[in-house]
Amino acid sequence: MGIILTVTSGKGGVGKSTTTANVATGLAQEGKRVVAVDFDIGLRNLDMILGLENRIVYDVVNVMEGDCNLSQALISDKKTPGLYFLPASQTKDKNILEKEKVRKLFEDLKSQFDFVIIDSPAGIESGFEYAIFLADMALVISTPDVSAVRDADRVIGIMDAKSEKAINGGEIEKFLIVNRVKPGMVDRGDMLSIEDVLQILAIKLIGVVPDDEKVISSTNTGQPVVHDMTSKSGEAYRRIAKRILGEEVDFLDLSEKGGFLAKIKGLFK
Ligand SMILES: Nc1ncnc2c1ncn2[C@@H]1O[C@H](COP(=O)(O)OP(=O)(O)OP(=O)(O)O)[C@@H](O)[C@H]1O
Ligand SMILES: [Mg+2]
Repeated sequence: MGIILTVTSGKGGVGKSTTTANVATGLAQEGKRVVAVDFDIGLRNLDMILGLENRIVYDVVNVMEGDCNLSQALISDKKTPGLYFLPASQTKDKNILEKEKVRKLFEDLKSQFDFVIIDSPAGIESGFEYAIFLADMALVISTPDVSAVRDADRVIGIMDAKSEKAINGGEIEKFLIVNRVKPGMVDRGDMLSIEDVLQILAIKLIGVVPDDEKVISSTNTGQPVVHDMTSKSGEAYRRIAKRILGEEVDFLDLSEKGGFLAKIKGLFK
């Protein structure tokens, strides 16, 4: 049985879809069978980031409604063996999801893949609750600013209260990714904000991704930046994938002057 890994944030626009595409690709590059599910019902864009928008025929709601079977809707990413994609529906009906149908879909996906990665919608609307309900593991994305951190904290609270794991007395394994960190901030000593983020959220840090214009250009070409061996953001995502698989990997040194790594390491002493 595979693992359901939900990518969530609270605040919108902080990098959930970017993370989903890159972590899914990174895990497939490590030899895992991975499906990236766009659960942002009504607003698809993971397809663009993966460069698979022209191959969509059926979507996640079609599968749940029985309009097609799962294998008809799954799109295989020819660039990355082992990586599959299940597109979001563009329906405007936010109440289309039904708990038992969602459960059946994810049970089926878990039986076929090592990792089922769910890109969740912004905010805490209904699609969000479904995306966290069945999660085994969550990647919580925040940018290093107060409003994103506050919203991430709310989402962590909801996962601890409302997920199926919580209802059964357990807990979703939660990891933090701080996204869009600017090396200039690091060098000015503003990295305290990462320490603050960790202190407020009190979950384990699994990655720090730099603000990198290559993320934007790679989205435009439909090639997730994790394919780019020369980019720092790509390297950050490759390391996150390895950490998800339990490898101990150093954090990327984002400072142009050095020293960031030492600070991050210091946080775990
Ligand atoms: N590390 C980064 N460096 C530069 N740009 C980034 C980075 N991460 C994300 N972005 C950009 O930020 C924007 C929002 O990213 P993304 O769509 O992944 O966020 P999201 O959390 O999925 O948004 P939504 O809540 O709307 O679904 C995109 O234009 C993306 O290219
Ligand atoms: Mg998104």
